[in-house]
Amino acid sequence: MITINSLNKLKLECEKIAVLTSYDASFAKIAESAGVEVILVGDSLGMVVQGQSSTVPVSMDQMVYHTACVTRGVSRALVIADMPFMSHASDEQALLNAARLMQEGGARMVKLEGAGELDLVKKMTAHSIPVCGHLGLLPQSIHQLGGYQVQGKDKHDAQKIFLDAEALEEAGAQMLVLECVPAELGKEISKNLKIPVIGIGAGVDVDGQVLVLYDMLGMNSDGLQPRFVKNFLADAGSIDGAIKAYVQAVKDGSYPGREQSY
Ligand code: KIV
Repeated sequence: MITINSLNKLKLECEKIAVLTSYDASFAKIAESAGVEVILVGDSLGMVVQGQSSTVPVSMDQMVYHTACVTRGVSRALVIADMPFMSHASDEQALLNAARLMQEGGARMVKLEGAGELDLVKKMTAHSIPVCGHLGLLPQSIHQLGGYQVQGKDKHDAQKIFLDAEALEEAGAQMLVLECVPAELGKEISKNLKIPVIGIGAGVDVDGQVLVLYDMLGMNSDGLQPRFVKNFLADAGSIDGAIKAYVQAVKDGSYPGREQSY
């Protein structure tokens, strides 16, 4: 059984952590047996499963449903579930919703976007709800950001993300996802934090990588592919082979390469 302690140990031993999203039992099972250590039930399901144009419409009930599907498919992997848009608008609501993801969905950690709710992270931790932070590009804030762009490119923005990462760890977050930031910033944050830092478009020098399952299988419906996405199915020829190739590439540091980094 993969636990947060196993992941901390991998970080200490400089072994990279392979994370992949899944939204149902069948894919989760294949991912786990291909060697993926952490499965993220991301609210990206809004885009790749439901065909929405952002993650904003995803509801709490939908997250609970998909999380339960995923946890039924795995026995070993650590399952993290996303807290969807507005599911943590108040602390009370957040605690109840996180409890649903754990009790009804079977998640062992929940992920929250941004660093605006440090007190909530402390409260969740105090209630034995393990929290994964998410910094850099925040898909739930897309309408505020005005588009999917690399974050932390100038010194001021980079410093803010760096300090937010420290603050989240200090508040009790046990893992951090870092999305779409320059590789150098990913490296600095990963070096500075004790908790595992998992990158998606954050360069190779972080503690692990996460990709959206459908993206790494080349199932990109609108043709707009972020630079960090690599199609692992193209050479592998099977879904199982593609996920194994992804795990191998994460572990040996060949993914992401320079061409997939900012
Ligand atoms: O929702 C999701 O799949 C995510 C990943 C992009 C990290 O948050």
